[in-house]
Amino acid sequence: MISESDNEKFLNLYKNELVKLELKITRVFEKRLPKSLYQPCKYAIESGGKRIRPFFVLLAAKAAGGNFDQVYNAAIAVELLHNFTLVHDDIMDNSTIRRCRPTLHIKYDVNTAILAGDSLIALAYEYLLKDTPENSKSIIETFTQSVVEVCEGQSLDKEFETRRNVTINDYKKMIYQKTAALLVMSGKIGAQMVTVKKNIIDAISKYAANIGMAFQIQDDLLDITANQNKFGKKIGNDLIEGKKTFLFLKAYEKASGKDKRELNNFIKNKGIPEHKIPVFNEIYERLGVFEDAKNEIKRYTQLGINQLKVFKDKEAKNLLVWFANFLLNRKY
Ligand code: IPE
Ligand code: IPE
Ligand code: MG
Ligand code: MG
Ligand code: MG
Repeated sequence: MISESDNEKFLNLYKNELVKLELKITRVFEKRLPKSLYQPCKYAIESGGKRIRPFFVLLAAKAAGGNFDQVYNAAIAVELLHNFTLVHDDIMDNSTIRRCRPTLHIKYDVNTAILAGDSLIALAYEYLLKDTPENSKSIIETFTQSVVEVCEGQSLDKEFETRRNVTINDYKKMIYQKTAALLVMSGKIGAQMVTVKKNIIDAISKYAANIGMAFQIQDDLLDITANQNKFGKKIGNDLIEGKKTFLFLKAYEKASGKDKRELNNFIKNKGIPEHKIPVFNEIYERLGVFEDAKNEIKRYTQLGINQLKVFKDKEAKNLLVWFANFLLNRKY
């Protein structure tokens, strides 16, 4: 159990680190030329991001017996990489709003956004190498593997828009790759930078895998249930784009009659027009799939927390338990 005062302590830690991270992230683009490349990069990354991946790098390093200073640049690297995925994802998902602002390809244009994304990957490696000890092939491997996974996951995500027979199992493999893999990498990098203890690295990786699954199901849920001003993204975009989310697939399992016909039309037409979002909201509510999603998110979060038994240090363990619950309760 985490007490009220612990909760306040952790929240303050998160807030303090956010301020430091913001400062360091802005500096990444200082004095870099050409402006035509780095201004868009800066636009993509600044303001409103939760910075949960870099924060997790810091927590993982601490939990593994190190300290924040050893992994600050690696944390920045992870956030740079995450923002590459967002910039390209927004092109792929026809998303117009992120972090309450026009997405990069809307603010500038698609060509600018593609190159900014590419450049963010390169900068990510530049920052990763600043913190990586000499001859640390395993760290570069971990980082690289996550880029491979995200691209494969994103490809499956697009493939599923037009595939009729996607199962919840297919969906889970896909979200592991597109989302959980980056969290696994964040935790693993944080740990690998400060320890070689395999049981610690493995425990953090398994924790992150489960938290990552919960994170994407939560994102699917928020896509339709969140407050747009808080969430910062357009509500219902997954439905418009024909995404076979956890909610959709669960509803498809449960539906019959008229509901099933609506869901079949969604599959056939690869999505719905915006005015039909309330109809789907009502179907999802009636079939109880919001509850199903919440239960699945809780289940994965608990599975993640269960991996923390190897940590003898109570403070380290509490930090990670708090982080899992913090993500579980997020509204954006
Ligand atoms: C969005 O990630 C992409 C997903 C994997 C769902 P976040 O929700 O962490 O986005 P920011 O960085 O806080 O904007
Ligand atoms: C998240 O997928 C995965 C990546 C961005 C790699 P989403 O498409 O659900 O993310 P959002 O909702 O646009 O942030
Ligand atoms: Mg997407
Ligand atoms: Mg998207
Ligand atoms: Mg989403």
